[in-house]
Amino acid sequence: MHMRKKKWARPELAACPWYIQDTEAMRGQWKSLYPADSPLHIELGCGKGVSTAQMAHDNPDINYLAIDISPDVLGECKRNIERAYAGAPIDNIRLARFDISVISRFLAEEDAAERIYISFCNPWPRRRHQKRRLTHPRQLVQYRAFLSDGGEIWFKTDDTELFEDSLEYFSACGFEPVFVTEDLSASGFTPNYISEHEEKFTAQGLPIRFGRFRKAALPDGPRAAWPEEEEDP
Ligand SMILES: C[S@@+](CC[C@H](N)C(=O)[O-])C[C@H]1O[C@@H](n2cnc3c(N)ncnc32)[C@H](O)[C@@H]1O
Repeated sequence: MHMRKKKWARPELAACPWYIQDTEAMRGQWKSLYPADSPLHIELGCGKGVSTAQMAHDNPDINYLAIDISPDVLGECKRNIERAYAGAPIDNIRLARFDISVISRFLAEEDAAERIYISFCNPWPRRRHQKRRLTHPRQLVQYRAFLSDGGEIWFKTDDTELFEDSLEYFSACGFEPVFVTEDLSASGFTPNYISEHEEKFTAQGLPIRFGRFRKAALPDGPRAAWPEEEEDP
């Protein structure tokens, strides 16, 4: 996401008690940051957190961790959360900034997340870039480590190719489909919290692909080496 630099974002985040600065130190201990011992749901690449803010506000019995790499969008996310809570205590959501491609440095089995949300991640269409997709097997293998058995990944995208490839990635890494639709709004699936990108693509008339994938037994071990993507000609 290319966004104009926001001078206010870093200082505002630094002063925010629910923005977690020392992310590596929290590995295995994220649950200790919340007053309630509730299930942990993690949003990967939360962006401005339009849907995250509303979802966390409406579900006080779930603890949320919203992650992004950009301090500018996290600043917007913080402000959206404050707007959604409208002065009520913000105790079931935490924000953190780190690179999801190395997420196993920050989350461990003890963190035992029950759900992961991935919404409108970059489709990285060029073959040699596909390993950067947030649903790529090299990511899914990392997520398995801190996702509880039976935990789910909820994945949304407007991109057909990314979605179809991701169905294969999930299957190869021991995630079974619980619900899959090529058109989320037509499916009537609820609850659905609409993110910034979802609103934009829906307004363009694009159907939103959505799936829930449950962590199950590995087929015969994760594919240790997913075939390396060929270089683009
Ligand atoms: C297209 S936006 C989607 C934002 C939001 N989920 C939505 O649906 O509107 C993708 C977000 O993922 C973040 N992101 C991409 N790669 C990342 C990475 N490796 N680590 C952390 N965040 C990442 C970007 O900064 C951006 O905010």
